[in-house]
Amino acid sequence: MNKEINRRTFLKGLAGSAAGVAAMNMMGGVATAKAETAAPAFEGKKQFAGAANVRKITDDLYYIGVNDRRIELFENVYPVPRGVSYNSYLLLDEKTVLFDTVDRTAIGPFFENLEFALGGRKLDYLIVNHMEPDHSSAIAQVVARYPEVTVLCTELAVSMMKQFHEIDINKHGYAVKEGMELNAGRHKLVFTMAPMVHWPEVMMTYDATDKILFSADAFGTFGALDGNLFADEVNFETEWLADARRYYTNIVGKYGPQVVSVLDKASGLDIATVCPLHGPVWRENIGWFIDKYVKWATYTPEETAVLVVYGSVYGGTENAAGILASQLSAAGMRNVKVLDVSKTHVSELIAESFRCSHIVFASMTYNMGIFTPMKNFLLDLQAHNLQNRGYALIENGSWAPAAGKQMKDILDTMPGMTQIGSTVTVRSTPNDENAEQLAALANEIVTVIAGTPMPLTEAAPVAAAPVTKWRCTVCGYVYEGETMPEDYKCPLCGVGPDKFEPVV
Ligand code: FEO
Repeated sequence: MNKEINRRTFLKGLAGSAAGVAAMNMMGGVATAKAETAAPAFEGKKQFAGAANVRKITDDLYYIGVNDRRIELFENVYPVPRGVSYNSYLLLDEKTVLFDTVDRTAIGPFFENLEFALGGRKLDYLIVNHMEPDHSSAIAQVVARYPEVTVLCTELAVSMMKQFHEIDINKHGYAVKEGMELNAGRHKLVFTMAPMVHWPEVMMTYDATDKILFSADAFGTFGALDGNLFADEVNFETEWLADARRYYTNIVGKYGPQVVSVLDKASGLDIATVCPLHGPVWRENIGWFIDKYVKWATYTPEETAVLVVYGSVYGGTENAAGILASQLSAAGMRNVKVLDVSKTHVSELIAESFRCSHIVFASMTYNMGIFTPMKNFLLDLQAHNLQNRGYALIENGSWAPAAGKQMKDILDTMPGMTQIGSTVTVRSTPNDENAEQLAALANEIVTVIAGTPMPLTEAAPVAAAPVTKWRCTVCGYVYEGETMPEDYKCPLCGVGPDKFEPVV
């Protein structure tokens, strides 16, 4: 069935629909029905010259997002050669409901899409699942263009809205809490908090009628949509997974416990469709993608694989890394990847580290320490909370090799990181003795892998550490401190310390 729509059929379809409004209510007593008032000044008039680019997801849900292929660096950090999509959705029920907006670079086509999809109806609700500007930059303009709109977001998003847009939420909407519902007519929308996936104010919205989860950044990916809106319309595993992994691990990778908390909540929902804020919409094989998320969020390797990352100036360390890779292959290892730390963007190194079960770090000594790009990579890995990997070390130094110990010092701060074998020390270029050491190290790595059933999280012992973080079992908020104050109340959902559990 062709689910795409064009202007004529869309408007024809709307002609018979009721623009009348059923009573709205917010269970939980926060929001009450808004009286019908005069239509916005522009209603029924076309404001934009451009044609819309809208796709139908279900009978009354429309994709009105925008692709950005001009962007070079997402968040001014991550290269996105395939661009990125800013996803936004419009539900046309008895009430019209907009789910999130777009980045400021996409505001023009976004309003073309919104106006077209509304087909002359007014906008009743804007649900802000995430306040990061790549999704919230059009909020002020939405409020200006549709002054009757009611904005719904989390408590924390209220203050952020003032910071980014100087919007007074008290005039335009409400803060919602966990489990509150919005009746849009046929659809019942339920709000669930998702702090730190990826910012603290994040929530998700579940359409309990059509079993659709509006998942904010979760289940998103880098990459513009090439017309194929649904993940089942592309070969996601070969064409998208690497970008999805790079997106998740770099953007949300640090917040594994919070993602686990949200996945736990989502496991209680019957989900037929997932509508993320970036990348394809999921309506088939969702479990396959959720399984990836479970692995990433629990720092469990996706694959039994060895990643060899080297930092080399004159080629000696590069040669040592190459010898090790060859010896790994000779010893039977089939899933080996070698990357130059100086030429590979660190976001790809982070993603590959989440994918692989074992990592070899090979660095020459520079300024009496670790080669700068390698040090930056290690610190980024540490910042992204990577855990539970076997690792091996190669250092090089023409007169005072020092990189090995310093790399180990960083890696040993990360839970569940276990060194395999001894550090191989090269002096300028690998000699015959080094070649033997590298062959022995390759054999040790392969032996450990052969005796280590996946996942490594079950195999690698993690030293008991003092508790410094506590997670709210209701909403996932994380409190930092060695003990929970007796009178503490979760700033997101309001529960007391008895509802918090230690993060280990
Ligand atoms: Fe796509 Fe956290 O913004």
